[in-house]
Amino acid sequence: MTLHDLDKHLGNLSDDPSANKEPGGSTRSVHGGTKRRKAFNSLNTPIVQTATYTFGDTQELIDFMERKTWGDGDDREEYGRYGNPTVSAVERKLAALDAGEDAVLYASGMAAVTSILLSILPSGAHIIMTDDCYRRTRQFALTFLKRFGIETTVVPMGDYDAMEAAIIPKKTRFIISESPTNPYLRVADLERIGRIGKKHRVLTLIDSTFATPINQRPLEWGIDFVVHSATKYLSGHNDLLAGVVVGKGDRIKALRDARGVLGGIVDPQNAYLLDRGIKTLGVRVDQQNRTALAVARFLESHLHIERVWYPGLPSHPEYRIAAAQMTGFGGVVSFEVAGDLKATSKFIDRLKIPYIAPSLGGVESLIEQPALMSYYEKTTEERLALGIKDNLVRFAIGIEDTDDILNDLDQALSVV
Ligand SMILES: Cc1ncc(COP(=O)(O)O)c(C=O)c1O
Repeated sequence: MTLHDLDKHLGNLSDDPSANKEPGGSTRSVHGGTKRRKAFNSLNTPIVQTATYTFGDTQELIDFMERKTWGDGDDREEYGRYGNPTVSAVERKLAALDAGEDAVLYASGMAAVTSILLSILPSGAHIIMTDDCYRRTRQFALTFLKRFGIETTVVPMGDYDAMEAAIIPKKTRFIISESPTNPYLRVADLERIGRIGKKHRVLTLIDSTFATPINQRPLEWGIDFVVHSATKYLSGHNDLLAGVVVGKGDRIKALRDARGVLGGIVDPQNAYLLDRGIKTLGVRVDQQNRTALAVARFLESHLHIERVWYPGLPSHPEYRIAAAQMTGFGGVVSFEVAGDLKATSKFIDRLKIPYIAPSLGGVESLIEQPALMSYYEKTTEERLALGIKDNLVRFAIGIEDTDDILNDLDQALSVV
């Protein structure tokens, strides 16, 4: 998005030649897609807390049904499941941030993932998914979609020959990947996935939750749909659940119509909180990128750490791709402690700053040992088969000062 586009979003076109320069992430977070004048001349997006909308008389209803009153800046809707002005305002902002034509907001990241697949896939279809992805997305594909006769092929992250070979002509509808992935921060070659999708007329979808639109914009690399769990970095405060899909205008309109049937719309209060959170996305993510890189470097040189997974380290398998396609490497660092399950827990318990909790992307640092969190019910052997080691730690860095986090890690590692 150039400043001209931003000005267009602001309703304030400029003749300044410097206007072709790309606005920074923070400017986009505050102003992207935002109308300059809002209802009641409010600076902030008003919360339209309503489940339904009224019509003054029958003629007004008929004009609405005939779409005569649409597109005149009036964001009115017929019923809350179909849309809401607060929700629409956030959708415009998210579309601008990810350089998409439009965006559709849902009640959670999983509502976004499940709704797009349920809305588009016919029965008997086939999808391809990379491994090392959010386990509920995998669970949805391998159990729920299977019940509707939709088969999933899981291919190893980074094996693009396997991805292309898995395509079944006329049957494969979607290639789905996360980037970076959870928990090993593997990075997808977005350009290559986009090319494979276009060559075989298969839709491509990237879950870009870990990257945020500050660090990566998959649509610009030829991807069809971007999904985010807005619960994470976009909202940034661990106080709401939301999800979004961004893409081309006609496709998103179809998803919005389907949302009116499936029902997973976010509520207006949460949409407002999300809008508020996004305003600081640029500054938060810049700080989290900086601290995460410092933490990754510190851990990599530490005697009590066996391995660090962070796309900003040259030791990472996709460092080159990350350096080419991302403008920052994100706020999550995964690492393996030199010790067993118990020693790793002891280290975590000694930390004073991060909370032990699932999730990521908020202002507070959160830490978890996946073996005892998401994969608790599995045995060590079952976890290993899924690639989850007992000594693996996922550290989701908040916005605390870098030195404080480094000092905290240093003192806690002395017990390993
Ligand atoms: C990469 C990724 N995608 C999707 C989700 C689901 O999002 P939500 O928890 O908002 O439903 C998560 C949740 O952890 C996630 O990490």
